[in-house]
Amino acid sequence: MSPLLSLLLLSLFLAPEVAAAATELRHGYYSETCPEAESIVRAVIHRARIREPRSAASVMRLQFHDCFVNGCDGSVLLDDTPTMLGEKLALSNINSLRDFEVIDEVKGALEEQCPGVVSCADIIIMAARDAVVLSGGPSWEVKLGRKDSLTASQEDSNNIMPSPRANVTFLINLFHQVNLSIIDLVALSGSHSIGEARCFSIVFRLYNQSGTGRPDPNMDPEYRKKLDELCPKGGDGNVTGGLDATPVVFDNQYYKDLVQKKGFLNSDQTLYCGDARTRKVVQKFSHDQAAFFSAFIKGMVRMGDLQSEERGEIRRNCRVVNDGGPFHTTL
Ligand code: HEM
Ligand SMILES: *[C@@H]1O[C@H](CO)[C@@H](O)[C@H](O)[C@H]1NC(C)=O
Ligand SMILES: *[C@@H]1O[C@H](CO)[C@@H](O)[C@H](O)[C@H]1NC(C)=O
Ligand SMILES: *[C@@H]1O[C@H](CO)[C@@H](O)[C@H](O)[C@H]1NC(C)=O
Ligand SMILES: *[C@@H]1O[C@H](CO)[C@@H](O)[C@H](O)[C@H]1NC(C)=O
Repeated sequence: MSPLLSLLLLSLFLAPEVAAAATELRHGYYSETCPEAESIVRAVIHRARIREPRSAASVMRLQFHDCFVNGCDGSVLLDDTPTMLGEKLALSNINSLRDFEVIDEVKGALEEQCPGVVSCADIIIMAARDAVVLSGGPSWEVKLGRKDSLTASQEDSNNIMPSPRANVTFLINLFHQVNLSIIDLVALSGSHSIGEARCFSIVFRLYNQSGTGRPDPNMDPEYRKKLDELCPKGGDGNVTGGLDATPVVFDNQYYKDLVQKKGFLNSDQTLYCGDARTRKVVQKFSHDQAAFFSAFIKGMVRMGDLQSEERGEIRRNCRVVNDGGPFHTTL
């Protein structure tokens, strides 16, 4: 066979799976192939939020957990298989990450309208934006055109996703590793303006901060009493509390809480108490909601730009790769 012909055959084989690394993300990516895509996603997220107000937060969090682990490639949505440990049971996700059924519902509606066109990775990006809008936050244009991964890595998720115990130095470094700034860190943490967290994520700071056997001193005493009641020592770790004082409204209350030392997670309060640079940004956002919204949009877009280096596809079902597995096709 001539080299040219074999190259041609090879490219035919690879045609449906293009290199995600080379993908140019843009606004209106589906305007020809699935013009209703964005309104379909919005409608499903709207319904989900009416069923359960927390749903907006749970869906929005998926963007963080997807994009930080090898780029925004829908890897977080893959179920475990006999040969692959996915990310759903990783340390930060097990008994915590939720509303995968809502993404399934979006995918189902999209497959009905335009089968095989819209990636699960893009669904997460659109759904996260819609969750913010529907919770009273700002709106923005999302860039689309991502491909879905052929695999997922529990190990990578365990190594990358930060613990609620994280201190500000650790968080600054973590964000820096994916080219996100201190302002991005503080603004994106403002996503905790909506949603809930488990007692499991805070009992250490209530009763044994940094192994001292004492509570975190950076806590308003009244607020600590409230948390002690919500999360008594030895109590049910799955009980949840609001991440800020207005957990179904996307606003700058989160930063007002931090200034008053009423942050829920250690990783929240440390932004105000642990570093002069992040503290300045928290203070700014606590009295300037417009500045928060604008920085938040920039951060979400930059986080959405994180790309996978691997080949991808448009999954038909967000939980499984097409054709039964990553190494199914042999050349
Ligand atoms: C800066 C580092 C971050 C840390 C350490 C962190 C940690 C956490 C933890 C521990 C929870 C509660 C988990 C549980 O107890 O079940 C949580 C919830 C949440 N996180 Fe983060 N997070 C961070 C950044 C982000 C970012 C960047 C976003 C999105 C842009 C985000 C969105 C959310 C949302 C919306 C919830 C509530 C989810 C729900 O109610 O279901 N987080 N986060
Ligand atoms: C922050 O956390 C890192 C990693 O857990 C730790 O090595 C470091 O000592 C901590 N820094 C401070 C100032 O507590
Ligand atoms: C990091 O971000 C800056 C500013 O947005 C951008 O100019 C640069 O290309 C980014 N670098 C990488 C490696 O993504
Ligand atoms: C507090 O944490 C330290 C270190 O993490 C541990 O050695 C100690 O046993 C804990 N104390 C209590 C009362 O749980
Ligand atoms: C929370 O509930 C799950 C599922 O019922 C259980 O497996 C887990 O151990 C509980 N976690 C905590 C921290 O209590």
